[in-house]
Amino acid sequence: MGLICIKIQTIKKILILKKSSSENRRLRLLLTSGLGAFNLFYERVIFLSYIVAISGSPSSESRSSILVNFLRSEIENKGIRVKEASVLDFQPDVLIQGQYDHPSIHKFSEDLKGASGIIIISPVYKAAYSGALKTLLDILPQDVFKDKPLFPLMVGGSQAHLLAIDYSLKPLLAALSAQTILKGVYVLDKYVDKTNILHPISEEEIRSKITIQLGQFLEISKKISSITNAN
Ligand SMILES: Cc1cc2nc3c(=O)[nH]c(=O)nc-3n(C[C@H](O)[C@H](O)[C@H](O)COP(=O)(O)O)c2cc1C
Repeated sequence: MGLICIKIQTIKKILILKKSSSENRRLRLLLTSGLGAFNLFYERVIFLSYIVAISGSPSSESRSSILVNFLRSEIENKGIRVKEASVLDFQPDVLIQGQYDHPSIHKFSEDLKGASGIIIISPVYKAAYSGALKTLLDILPQDVFKDKPLFPLMVGGSQAHLLAIDYSLKPLLAALSAQTILKGVYVLDKYVDKTNILHPISEEEIRSKITIQLGQFLEISKKISSITNAN
């Protein structure tokens, strides 16, 4: 990766030096647009492997999974791959009995290890994240979120638990070695329209918070991935 960057810089320098003839100008234009396209590809596809988006709801038609699906399509529209995951993907006895060496847990840990960033969406249950999400996170390796930016979201029925992201979810993520955790978004369940899969968020302010933080999350993911790839 570092070598490619040096080569790009070198070509850019050559282009700056040879400014004279019209032929050179045409060549410069051609190379600059080629470089632009390459840079876009490099930033979006090479630096970002994929994003993992996890739903922590045990309910089959949950608002959390609808939000995961919404974020997935927003990210994929930017040309970035997303792997969706849900607590429902795992056998209940694997989670309840804490089978940390089960193949499905190994596979999931590997998926997380290879991700450029992780999104976690949990419903608020009894003023905190869901117990199902906790059973899954409990059996993952302790450093599973090391060097991964995390974008936490929670869906709750009451405004009273607005701070559940800060006092329950973020400490849990930090315990799994997450260092870069975004502010996060709390979504009231009445603003998630289960019947509108493509545009499920009916409240403009919430939609805009999610869009802004998603943009920040992808930028941070890109930066952290470029640093870890270079090392
Ligand atoms: C068992 C249970 C406990 C809940 N506890 C709370 C709570 O303490 N605070 C709150 O704001 N909402 C609470 N809710 C409401 C859910 O957070 C809300 O309906 C949310 O949309 C569920 O997300 P889901 O559809 O992704 O499962 C609770 C719901 C259930 C089923």
